[in-house]
Amino acid sequence: MSQKKRHLVTAALIYANGPIHIGHLAGCYIPSDLYVRFLRLKGEDVKFISGTDEHGVPITIKARDEKKSPQEVVDYYYNLINDSFNEFGISFDIFSRTSRKIHHKTSSDFFLNLYDKKTFKEITSSQYYDEKENQFLSDRYIIGKCPTCDNENAYGDQCESCGKTLSPMDLKNPKSTLSGNTPVLKETKNWYLPMDKLQGNIEKYINAKKDWKSNVIGQCKSWLNDGLKPRAMTRDLDWGVKVPIKGAEGKVLYVWFDAPIGYITATKELDPDNWEKYWKDEESSLVHFIGKDNIVFHTIIFPMMLMEHGDYILPENVPANEFMNLEGKKISTSRNWAVWLHEYLKDFPNMQDELRYCLITNLPENKDSDFSWKDFQQKNNNELVAILGNYVNRVFVLCDKFFNKKVPKISSIEIDKQIFSELENIKEKIESSIRAYKFREAMSYMIDVARLGNKYLTDTEPWKIFKDDPDRVKAIIHNSIQIVANISILCEPFLPFTSKKIKGHLNISDLSWDSVGSNIMPTDHIISGKAHIFSKIEDQLIEDQIKKLKLSNENNNVMPQKNTIEFDDFTKVDIRVGTVIEAENVPKSDKLLKLKVDTGLDQRTILSGISKYYSPDDILNKKVMVLINLKPRKMMGFESQGMLLLADDSDGNLSLMQPDSDISDGSIVA
Ligand code: 2FM
Ligand code: ZN
Repeated sequence: MSQKKRHLVTAALIYANGPIHIGHLAGCYIPSDLYVRFLRLKGEDVKFISGTDEHGVPITIKARDEKKSPQEVVDYYYNLINDSFNEFGISFDIFSRTSRKIHHKTSSDFFLNLYDKKTFKEITSSQYYDEKENQFLSDRYIIGKCPTCDNENAYGDQCESCGKTLSPMDLKNPKSTLSGNTPVLKETKNWYLPMDKLQGNIEKYINAKKDWKSNVIGQCKSWLNDGLKPRAMTRDLDWGVKVPIKGAEGKVLYVWFDAPIGYITATKELDPDNWEKYWKDEESSLVHFIGKDNIVFHTIIFPMMLMEHGDYILPENVPANEFMNLEGKKISTSRNWAVWLHEYLKDFPNMQDELRYCLITNLPENKDSDFSWKDFQQKNNNELVAILGNYVNRVFVLCDKFFNKKVPKISSIEIDKQIFSELENIKEKIESSIRAYKFREAMSYMIDVARLGNKYLTDTEPWKIFKDDPDRVKAIIHNSIQIVANISILCEPFLPFTSKKIKGHLNISDLSWDSVGSNIMPTDHIISGKAHIFSKIEDQLIEDQIKKLKLSNENNNVMPQKNTIEFDDFTKVDIRVGTVIEAENVPKSDKLLKLKVDTGLDQRTILSGISKYYSPDDILNKKVMVLINLKPRKMMGFESQGMLLLADDSDGNLSLMQPDSDISDGSIVA
């Protein structure tokens, strides 16, 4: 929990190779925006930094696919992303870009500083090279089989199936993604950060972080336990920040070297005279909001760079989120399984807070979460409309009906102390949840205020007693208006458009967080007659979105037909019905089950990558179909003597193939 003099809050610099989707919003942009809005309301000194990450292989690959130059790609996406964030209300103080000159200068100076200190190790090594394209292949330019989980399409930097970080040399059967050819090995010199040597310093730094989230610490520990290895900070590529030293022609800085320095550049751009106090004074708190795929870069590599440089403070916290799925499936840009922000803004005009609310209540703070359109509709209709919107509107209507829109005058004894102390209490709870990065919890406390207000009206029933006790009704409405005014402040970090709307109806200007818990609205102040702030979302709108999602995804989803084969080719395949007679997890593998299968001919060991979908108990005694004449192969130290047949929907969902009657083991499948 940070109570420092000033705050520098960053949200990941997003790759400028595609539009923003709800996964990005839930991953880091909404949490960071909420946090910053709260700090601003508290009157604290805060700068909120983000921008686009415009270098690296993801950009060059996109440019190739679209037959455009990398610059054209990043220009297009910078504008699209920047416009969507603006309209959605993410309140960055600056949204910069790493292709700007000032960033090239900042990051290349940073590199030189470390180079002069002899931090880097120059290593000449053999790297994969595509002879047809005359290019070294790093990261995503190379795919092959993952050594851990056997996924055939693992990238040179990471396997997306098991999440393991890789280097191109780890891949079995590597292929160039440019030409499809098998690459050759060629020597090249690069500059490495000796992460092995610096591990001790990082360990000390991380071990002292007692308040980091467990998912973040977990990833750090697993990296440290595996032992850090030197990592190249330069790449043989022609798009990026040129390596500013002799003998490095044709090389650029590794995108993960220059990107986090982009946070420094952007602060400089934002506040050229004062940027240093945010980065170099121990009284500043540096907090990075990111998604889980960026953890190692912000908790290990960037802090190492900052330590080596020596002039900078280190990140105080890195509250990374897990991932948000969509309708039960992993969000995928390539398969178009996503809700794109720019499309949402078109399809649901002026409904920013409705999406924001649904995402906050579903933030993947500790584990992956799921967004579904039905849930979005329900949260809107049953919570925003029925609880918050309804309450605010009830108070406005009653004030109009009984007091002609004027805040009624009451004596101070009639101020309901109980209500104000509850407001104060909730304010404190929200505050400590936000400072602990528990935004879902904070959101639920916020909605409790509207519940409290609704209950107050239901308990006191002013509409029943107006004739007999008009003074009591004055007090009830007066207190209720104060609650609504308090809500308009409390909801600002969560629902900024709504906060503005309520303040507009109340006819008041912005107030600070610390005025919550007090009487805000002066007597005789005129408010509007009604405050319609949320509307029900009808079924049709939701069905349209579900249809749109499925349609845009369908064409991308089904694997195209493979080449024609001869019948003889098919008859070489020997598939039998079998029964699983033993099943257990394979230690250290999050994918494989080790099975013993009775094939009718024998009992044999088969390893199958299904443990995400089937537990040993699920599969025990099941009839299965087994490819039995596949050459045996070793996986995780065991020999697998065949393969279970599974259907794979290419979204990574697997389903076991089974005979549909109790046919005997050994039966031939043809
Ligand atoms: O994952 C991403 O989109 C990266 N471009 C994030 C970079 S964050 C920072 F280091 F700039
Ligand atoms: Zn893998």
